[in-house]
Amino acid sequence: MLNRRAALASLAGAASLALTVSACGQSSGGDSESSSEGDTVGIAMPTRSSDRWLADGKSVVEDLKGQGYKTKLVYGDDDPKAQVSQIENLIKQGVDALIIAAIDARSLNGVLQQAAAADIAVISYDRLILGTKNVDYYVSFDNEMVGRTQASYIIRKLGLEDGKGPFNIELFAGSPDDNNTKYFFDGSMALLQPFLDSKQLVVPSGQTKLDQITTLRWDGVTAQKRMSGVLAKWYGSKKVDAVLSPYDGISRGVLSALESDGYSSDSGLPVITGQDAEPASVKSIIAGQQSQTVYKDVRKLAQAAAEMVDDILTGRAPRVNNRRDYNNGVKNVPAYLLQPQSVDKTNYDVLIEDGYYTADELK
Ligand code: GAL
Repeated sequence: MLNRRAALASLAGAASLALTVSACGQSSGGDSESSSEGDTVGIAMPTRSSDRWLADGKSVVEDLKGQGYKTKLVYGDDDPKAQVSQIENLIKQGVDALIIAAIDARSLNGVLQQAAAADIAVISYDRLILGTKNVDYYVSFDNEMVGRTQASYIIRKLGLEDGKGPFNIELFAGSPDDNNTKYFFDGSMALLQPFLDSKQLVVPSGQTKLDQITTLRWDGVTAQKRMSGVLAKWYGSKKVDAVLSPYDGISRGVLSALESDGYSSDSGLPVITGQDAEPASVKSIIAGQQSQTVYKDVRKLAQAAAEMVDDILTGRAPRVNNRRDYNNGVKNVPAYLLQPQSVDKTNYDVLIEDGYYTADELK
């Protein structure tokens, strides 16, 4: 039987070759004489509580089935322990590869040792799995760029580069156990920090450190509570001008807190960013509430993951394109990254043009 891990180690060496090939506009595939049709791929997704992850699961399954694979899709419902036992079960059921979007980036070391012992290839999907050598590839979006995109939007809308201000801003970050949280935050702060230094941006709560502003499991209600607390304690007669939010579910929680505090689109809402272009948030953008979101076409992410699995299972080198290292604390994980796109009221049509949503779904 092919030892996939040994093969993967030599494939990683061939990754730069694959990059050259894809740069020439060819696919990374050759002929697939060693087709792995009929193999089973286990897919572990983090939660059903967000539209985005439902779309990811559905797309990955469709793409793999289209390539002749069988699939087993599980959702961990935001419970890291449940996710570990789901992955254990997939290993016991004899899957040939695993695609995993981790709930807690650091909780998978033990179960991935079992995967390695069973010679199962592992792809870290959207979120980098940390603290284990037993992860083979990472497929995601350029997550620092997501953070920069959100910050740029705030900078442009407030006219900070024209010297305007001071403005009051509050900062929100994602779940502390999701590795993406740091990328988003670092990307945003790289652009916002100069305006905090020049005092064109002021944070009345004083909460600017990552560990003060995280939102466990990206939960909208948690964000809503924090925003309500901040408004009650620090705002008085002050007005919020902008909220950095890393994810649509958090943005909607923040909006609820603002509305309970008397803010409305008539009297003026702050600039509020977001991410994932979830239908509820796109509708909110159209209605003039949330200001912006970051559109990441998860169909493309799913496609990239399915291609990676197919490459690995048929002994080819998956495409990678990372310009920097994605180190998970134990190793650099070869990565393929897609580009995000800013969406607001002026260009949300792109979602319909791309067939991401129908016009009706946004009504
Ligand atoms: C992140 C992901 C974001 C968002 C968030 C909450 O890991 O990159 O796009 O979906 O989780 O689900």
